[in-house]
Amino acid sequence: MKKIFGISILALAMVACSKNADQQPAQDTNVMKEEPAAQPAGGAAAGGANEGLALIEGADCLGCHKNDAKLVGPSYQEVAAKYTEADVDMLADKIIAGGKGNWGDIPMTPHAGMSKENAKKMVEYILSLKK
Ligand code: HEC
Repeated sequence: MKKIFGISILALAMVACSKNADQQPAQDTNVMKEEPAAQPAGGAAAGGANEGLALIEGADCLGCHKNDAKLVGPSYQEVAAKYTEADVDMLADKIIAGGKGNWGDIPMTPHAGMSKENAKKMVEYILSLKK
C-alpha cells in the first residue's frame, strides 16, 4: 500500500514537473511582452523611449550602467528617480560631453560622435524607468 502511494506521488511530481517545463517558454515570452508595456509612462515620449533602449543596447552604456544596480555609473533607476523631463536636454548634453560630479568623482566617458537627438532618446528611455 505504502509503495503504491509512493509511486503515485512520484508520478504526480513528474507530471507537475513536465507541466512546468512546458510552461517555461510561455513565461519567458510573457516577460518580454511586459517590457514595452512598462515604458509608456512618458506619453508622447514612449516612442523615443523604445528607440532609446535599442540605442543604449547598441552603444557602450551597459558596460558602466545597469537598470537596477550601480556599476561604474549610477543605475538608470537612480538616474530616473533624480531627474524629470525638464532635465532631458542637460542629460543628453552630459552623455555627449561626458563628465563627473553629480554622482561622484568617477567621470562618464564622452560620446562625441553621438547626435543630440539619439542622446535624448536614450535619456527618455532612462527616465521611463522611474517608479
Ligand atoms: C566609462 C563608463 C560609462 C559609460 C560607458 C557610460 N556612462 Fe553614463 N555615467 C558614468 C558615470 C561614472 C556617471 C556619473 C557621472 C557624474 O557623477 O556626474 C554617469 C552618469 C550618467 C547619467 C546621469 C548624468 C548626471 O549628470 O546625473 C546618464 C543619464 C548616463 N550616464 C547615461 C549614459 C548613457 C546613455 C551611456 C551610453 C551612451 C553611458 N551613460 C555610458 C559612466 C559611464
